[in-house]
Amino acid sequence: MPKGNPPQVFQQTTTIEVDPAILTQNNDDDYESSGYSLNSEVDRYIYENDDVPMRVLDIGTGTGIWAIDFADKYPNCQVLGTDLSPIQPIYVPPNCRFEVDDAEQDWLWPVDHFDFIHLRNLAQSMSSYPALLRQAYSHLKPGAYLELGELGAEIYSDDNTLSPTHGFKRFLNCIDTAFTAMGRPQQTAATIQKLLEDAGFIDIQVSSFKQPFGPWPQDPRMKQIGAMVLVMAQTALEAYGMAPFTRYLGMSQEEAAQICDAGVASVRNRHNHVYSYYHIAYGRKPYPEEMSSCDEQ
Ligand SMILES: C[S@@+](CC[C@H](N)C(=O)[O-])C[C@H]1O[C@@H](n2cnc3c(N)ncnc32)[C@H](O)[C@@H]1O
Repeated sequence: MPKGNPPQVFQQTTTIEVDPAILTQNNDDDYESSGYSLNSEVDRYIYENDDVPMRVLDIGTGTGIWAIDFADKYPNCQVLGTDLSPIQPIYVPPNCRFEVDDAEQDWLWPVDHFDFIHLRNLAQSMSSYPALLRQAYSHLKPGAYLELGELGAEIYSDDNTLSPTHGFKRFLNCIDTAFTAMGRPQQTAATIQKLLEDAGFIDIQVSSFKQPFGPWPQDPRMKQIGAMVLVMAQTALEAYGMAPFTRYLGMSQEEAAQICDAGVASVRNRHNHVYSYYHIAYGRKPYPEEMSSCDEQ
């Protein structure tokens, strides 16, 4: 990217369609949670340089939804999504493709190659987040940005509906212990800031957004986000919990499943008004002349 034509940073908000059924309650205290469409809502960067195809990399792309959306939105970008699992769809925008690649191995792309690198929800996937960020830094062009998103580990309630015996709190306490034992700790705004600093990024911004668990908020937008998070939680607690609980905390399968189930039940309980923070951060790789002589050694 030519200097003097810096990327423009902006926030994109997408509309989230939620089936009204999600907002009505059952006979019990649970939310009705039948079908609605999921969408993503992220901070994005646009590289306004129509002449040059911009190289964008989404590491650990998962379903590929972020890469596909980004490619649709920015036809001047060539978007590459990588993952260990080839689960991405076949029909994708012409400027989007996927490759099976292990992000923990040495990257084979040239250094100073990408215009933008995106990572999301990888804190528990990587054995070394610092090593991942070091590689990302090396393969970004000087002046280019990296963005990452991670869910915060703490949950809160503003109306005292989060008791110490709250099933979700117990689940989170266990998972925090297990992730730490695995050497894949959960991230906070402060640890993300430090990870980016240590990797060499500058102009770092970390933003933390409230993420309600369940459609309990009055605000329509927060209600929609809470509804999406509720559906995510109904499968994610077991998906994230079972292996760490049985392999690192010595629990039986039954005990681990019971903690996951109790966590889901308390998130589904409409009387529990809990939220956490989702952290989105970005940093810029400095131009050579912006690096202090110490950095260059
Ligand atoms: C929690 S999912 C996040 C998916 C996606 N980034 C998102 O936010 O929608 C973590 C992803 O990381 C992938 N993953 C785990 N280890 C990886 C590795 N060493 N290299 C590449 N991808 C990896 C997993 O296969 C999974 O798709």
